[in-house]
Amino acid sequence: MYSILYNFILLISVVIQTSFALPPKLGATNDLQKQYLITDLPGLHKNIPTEEVPLMFSGQLQLYPDKETHYFFWKFSDSNKIPENNKRTIFWLNGGPGCSSMDGALMEAGPFRINKDKQVTYNNGSWHKAADIIFVDQPGGTGFSYTDKYDHELYEVTDHFLKFLEKYFEIFPEELSNEIYFAGESYAGQYIPYIADGILKYNKLNTTETPYNLKGLLIGNGWISPNEQSLSYLPFAVQAGIINSNNPRWQQILVQQERCQKIVNQIDSYQDDAIHADEISSTDCERILTYVLQYTRDNNAPEYEQCYNMYDYTLKDSYPSCGMNWPPDLVTVTPFLREEEVMNDLNLIEHKQWQECNGRVGSSLSAKNSIPSVHLLPGILEEIPVILFNGNLDIICNYFGTENFIKKLTWNGQKGFSEDLDAMNWLYGNETAGYIKSERNLTFVNVFNASHMVPFDKPEISRALIDLITGNYDESIKETDGTKSLITYPLGVRQAKIAAVEDSSSTGPASQTTATGSDTDAASDSDSDSEEETSEPASSSSSSRITRLIQLLVIIVLIWGLYVLYSSYKSRPSSIIKTGPTSGKKKNVQWADQLRRFQEDDQDAQNQQQQGFFVKTFNRLTGSVTDGRGNYAPTSAKVYEDIELGEGIALNDNDHTMDDFIIDSEEEEVGQVENGENIEVPDVEPPKISDNEVRQSSDSSS
Ligand SMILES: *[C@@H]1O[C@H](CO)[C@@H](O)[C@H](O)[C@H]1NC(C)=O
Ligand SMILES: *[C@@H]1O[C@H](CO)[C@@H](O)[C@H](O)[C@H]1NC(C)=O
Ligand SMILES: *[C@@H]1O[C@H](CO)[C@@H](O)[C@H](O)[C@H]1NC(C)=O
Ligand SMILES: *[C@@H]1O[C@H](CO)[C@@H](O)[C@H](O)[C@H]1NC(C)=O
Ligand SMILES: *[C@@H]1O[C@H](CO)[C@@H](O)[C@H](O)[C@H]1NC(C)=O
Repeated sequence: MYSILYNFILLISVVIQTSFALPPKLGATNDLQKQYLITDLPGLHKNIPTEEVPLMFSGQLQLYPDKETHYFFWKFSDSNKIPENNKRTIFWLNGGPGCSSMDGALMEAGPFRINKDKQVTYNNGSWHKAADIIFVDQPGGTGFSYTDKYDHELYEVTDHFLKFLEKYFEIFPEELSNEIYFAGESYAGQYIPYIADGILKYNKLNTTETPYNLKGLLIGNGWISPNEQSLSYLPFAVQAGIINSNNPRWQQILVQQERCQKIVNQIDSYQDDAIHADEISSTDCERILTYVLQYTRDNNAPEYEQCYNMYDYTLKDSYPSCGMNWPPDLVTVTPFLREEEVMNDLNLIEHKQWQECNGRVGSSLSAKNSIPSVHLLPGILEEIPVILFNGNLDIICNYFGTENFIKKLTWNGQKGFSEDLDAMNWLYGNETAGYIKSERNLTFVNVFNASHMVPFDKPEISRALIDLITGNYDESIKETDGTKSLITYPLGVRQAKIAAVEDSSSTGPASQTTATGSDTDAASDSDSDSEEETSEPASSSSSSRITRLIQLLVIIVLIWGLYVLYSSYKSRPSSIIKTGPTSGKKKNVQWADQLRRFQEDDQDAQNQQQQGFFVKTFNRLTGSVTDGRGNYAPTSAKVYEDIELGEGIALNDNDHTMDDFIIDSEEEEVGQVENGENIEVPDVEPPKISDNEVRQSSDSSS
């Protein structure tokens, strides 16, 4: 009897295995990993081609045994990795502070988008095809992460992230030897250098542990040097055609610009390494953006077109949202992540009502004693390459600001990029993607026709940033004018080209079947060497063991399924059977309480003065919470008083007249200032093509 049953089950399991085509790497999961495995999501098997279903893990990791702090992560890896992808891990962080990296996962670099039926659909520009990518909600309280103690300083954020890494690699120890990259955007321009600095220090200090193989940083539209970047709002807005000297409030903006310039001059004069309050944050500087958006409001336009979208100036939004209602995907992502089914699928131990940005995290992280991350870059650049990329349509963290602080930055023995350094064109296949400046480990990339969220607008091109940092590109120089270009390609194209060249040049019969993209025979030799070195279990024997394990698992599931069916038949009705094992397990009574608690937290947050970068700006701009979208801009009346609608502004000295500050938008060299000795304007020198692009776009938007 037993053997008949056994054979029967074995037969079924084989049938199931062959018909369900499990992701090949699934076998590599250990018991610990299985707790975090994602097996389903709404729409996953319906909308995503089977061969493109990523291998996914997610959950909330407890950082300290005796503390409440849990960090949520969602990991995607390709089930059919291209060779370059092997042994490469990217951690992605969104900014805020307090904004969830689910923005990155579901609207930007991840493999899914969410449709109006709250189902996942496929993003074929996903970064997980080029590297394993892990989206982490941090610091505590952000997204699906939770804590009872909010971080106030960036070094706390760093410590917690290092602890998170330790916990993460306990689950995925085989990845500890991977090349590690960090990527993210906006306020992650603070997080990422801090964490990288922490990792590099850890590697030096902690000689007993395996060092993290940190290989590079990718920061998109980063908020890195606050005041310097605030100073860029006006010149950028003028160049983009958002505002000009005919604006009735022009002079008020200029006065504000000058106030900020004085602050920046003061900061530049500091000789010590101390932390100066005016460098951490300056309302005078931040107010410039507020004014630009306020004074360019078009009261006569339809409601949703009255204000520039500060994340993409070719778009408009209602006032005072000015971009808060963007990106449009939030309308589907928020309800998706609030679905109980989804929270179960994501292995959450504590359900919470997901919000894009948590106000309390933002208000707590005032970073009063944390020096702006721009000061950490020189040390980091001594050891690893950093790419700072900017979508050129963003106002709030615009590329003028990035180029400006780079000019003042001294790294690897020299200040700024060399005078005679020409920008290179960046080609993605035959498409112009932007321009690049690169020297001494620092690369600046201006991405054309992209917003604050570059991967949102340009998923496939943004993925090629990984090729830029790993050196997977070609260079070409135009013979006519000497213009240099870096060329990246859609996935695998370059490797295929290299393989083809080698095939044709090799003497022996070329083995067409390899498709491994190994650069040369020598390279493939060294590949296999390194595979042996990394203490991974020998693949062939372990894979057969794993196959057996899977068989066993399937058998267990089958038996269990039969049992459940049987018992459901015996004792209907039973709600547990209806909801299934996954949801049943996690549905506990505590949940409702916890949800309420987080809602209370949010309430608290709304009553507090917000400190976050985005939040701050919009507190000043808005008198009320803008919409149901969460805590981007909860405000208090106190903050609102900060707005001086012009009346309060007095000239510091009467020497300046309107004429002193005229910024002539018709000038060839954009943003030129006449006689404004205190106003520094960037001399932007993009290749001609970008100049045209910018003008085109600004024309169409104005
Ligand atoms: C990705 O999607 C774009 C637009 O939908 C399409 O043109 C392109 O061929 C797709 N690429 C791949 C590799 O499927
Ligand atoms: C090294 O790391 C281990 C594990 O994280 C930790 O217990 C130890 O205190 C660290 N040592 C130093 C010198 O940081
Ligand atoms: C740049 O980064 C590499 C590692 O990628 C490092 O070896 C080198 O020292 C760094 N410094 C300079 C000046 O290139
Ligand atoms: C760019 O390449 C694509 C396919 O690789 C081709 O279809 C298209 O015609 C090319 N465009 C230009 C302008 O060369
Ligand atoms: C940028 O967008 C405009 C229109 O929105 C288009 O005409 C132009 O070709 C685009 N440029 C690039 C480099 O994609």
